[in-house]
Amino acid sequence: MIRKAVFPAAGFGTRFLPATKASPKEMLPLVDKPLIQHGVEEAKAAGIRDMIIVTGRGKNVIEDHFDVSFELEATLRKKGDGLLLALVQHVTDGADFFYVRQNLPLGLGHAVLRAMAMVGQEPFAVILSDDVIDAEVPVLKQMIAAYEKHSAGAVLAIQKVPREAVSRYGIIRGKRIADRVYRVEDMVEKPKPEAAPSDLAIIGRYILPPSIFPALLATKPGAGGEIQLTDAIRALIGTERVLGYEFEGVRYDAGTKLGFQMANVAFSLKDPDIGPGLLAFLRKEKSP
Ligand code: UTP
Repeated sequence: MIRKAVFPAAGFGTRFLPATKASPKEMLPLVDKPLIQHGVEEAKAAGIRDMIIVTGRGKNVIEDHFDVSFELEATLRKKGDGLLLALVQHVTDGADFFYVRQNLPLGLGHAVLRAMAMVGQEPFAVILSDDVIDAEVPVLKQMIAAYEKHSAGAVLAIQKVPREAVSRYGIIRGKRIADRVYRVEDMVEKPKPEAAPSDLAIIGRYILPPSIFPALLATKPGAGGEIQLTDAIRALIGTERVLGYEFEGVRYDAGTKLGFQMANVAFSLKDPDIGPGLLAFLRKEKSP
């Protein structure tokens, strides 16, 4: 059973500067919810209760967001605004939040390693909330089903990407063992298109075994002094059954300005309150 999810949120988010100068990228809003809240809701929908957030600067904003706001709730209650009150209470309902600090952003692998004591000896999920996925069945739920069905040791979310884009991702080499499921044989970080073993890219959702921690401890820093998560997962391939799962859903790279705006447009269009107005606006902008 997967009971814990780790949310690395300590990166500098340089692609969004100056917005991320004092506030973490994970707090940027997708329509009306911070990116990290979308991630937390996905984890809740997959039956996870313990949310472990790896923070850097801007820690207080994230902690305050996932805490009861007594004054706000009292004011809304006094006003009799039940709808907004429920919206605010929903943020903290059904989950427990734990925080650990990554003082220096030494890479995604290092961020996950910071959660070692809180995770302990059990499998856990990792969610990168800047990978936004619009899916009918939440992606982590899909992955847990595959994890259980195929007795996996680890499951990586994967997606086909255009050949010319492979150099932005970790790419797997694997054997297809079932519909949407690949047995991972190797992984290459950011290969050139001609050297890529496939067009299956690793996306920001993982189910990992606790053996990832000793593997991370043994991982030497790579480019830029960062400890890469993919290097540690690669080291597990010999001993753990590492699967790639091609999820159902549309993914937006909300870690880039363009992907973030596209996610906002897509999610806003689906919102019954603002969708029609936005659509009318976009049509007008497009027409000659
Ligand atoms: P990114 O590669 O998007 O890096 O991290 P970043 O620092 O957030 O953004 P840019 O590239 O400077 O614009 C992917 C995820 O891993 C977390 C980030 O917060 C993000 O959720 N991360 C990355 C950490 O928690 N610690 C790190 O040292 C690096």
